[in-house]
Amino acid sequence: MKKLFLAAVLGVAAAAASAQGQVNVICSVQAEWCNMISTVYARTTGTKVNLSMKGSGEALAQLVAERENPKTDVWFGGTGDPHLQAAEQGLSLEYKSPALGQLQPWSQQQAKQSGYKTVGIYSGPLGFGYNTELLAKKKLAVPKSWADLLKPIYKGEILVANPAASGTAYTMVATLVQLMGEDKAFEYMKALHKNVSQYMRSGTGPIKAVARGESAVSISFVHDGPGEKMNSFPLETVTPLEGTGAEIGSMSIIKGARNLDAAKKFYEWALTPAAQEMAAAARQFQVPSNKSAKVDPRVPDFRLIKFIDYDYAKYGASAERKRLIAKWEKEVNSLPH
Ligand code: G6P
Repeated sequence: MKKLFLAAVLGVAAAAASAQGQVNVICSVQAEWCNMISTVYARTTGTKVNLSMKGSGEALAQLVAERENPKTDVWFGGTGDPHLQAAEQGLSLEYKSPALGQLQPWSQQQAKQSGYKTVGIYSGPLGFGYNTELLAKKKLAVPKSWADLLKPIYKGEILVANPAASGTAYTMVATLVQLMGEDKAFEYMKALHKNVSQYMRSGTGPIKAVARGESAVSISFVHDGPGEKMNSFPLETVTPLEGTGAEIGSMSIIKGARNLDAAKKFYEWALTPAAQEMAAAARQFQVPSNKSAKVDPRVPDFRLIKFIDYDYAKYGASAERKRLIAKWEKEVNSLPH
């Protein structure tokens, strides 16, 4: 199916392609999607896409490091909080796309609150992944709430990412702080630490390990579940009863981009329905931000999920994100298991 899709797009486009320069893209979604957009874009436009794949926190760190001499033109995907932080730190360029009116209100809001230095390209809810076979084998119940994850039966069974590197994990920290209040959230994360076997670098590391039976439960974006299931892994997802947060996956043009025209063209293309539908073709099931993009039936149904009213501006602010991550390192990550 995926191969057919690619072949169709490439076939139509091959004739039109001619050398059109290059664009340097940091891509913070999963590799299959990054590879698909870069291949299709390169073949259809003739523009070479130099791709670098990095988690959201690591991408931001790279952009900070190359501030004086930017090597990146576009940052595609990854959770919205570090994109907002990049905007605040003057790392990304103000750019108002003519396509803004075609985008969902949450995507436009993300653009507006960043001074048009970033834009929402997708959204998806945080929840848990679990391995049905492993839970059955160990006679463990499916965790249904944040509270359930603290039960001693899950000791050593939970995988989470590290919020300094992963936007997924930072979304968890910010969600818990908003849900419980900061003191209780940190007490909660200290208690959770006892059940966590490892904090992984990448946001999708935990759900992939759980799908493969290396651990029973992960804290993950639930839209990363169907792709694992399609690979025949015994993986299901659930969103916590108390409520959860959603990410606004974002895209930014980098200030000082060497290939600015190419960057704008790539950015405009990435906002089109056809480009956004490639997510599902690459087995990633976020809600697309373009209102005309088809929503795959495997995309989580937001109407069935209890959401907190995530304050993107507050938790995407530089000082707040840095403070919460430093506090997590000091008060949670440093504790013995
Ligand atoms: C996966 C999800 C994306 C998310 C990204 C964050 O690719 O499918 O929706 O934005 O992870 O990655 P990170 O490694 O920063 O947690």
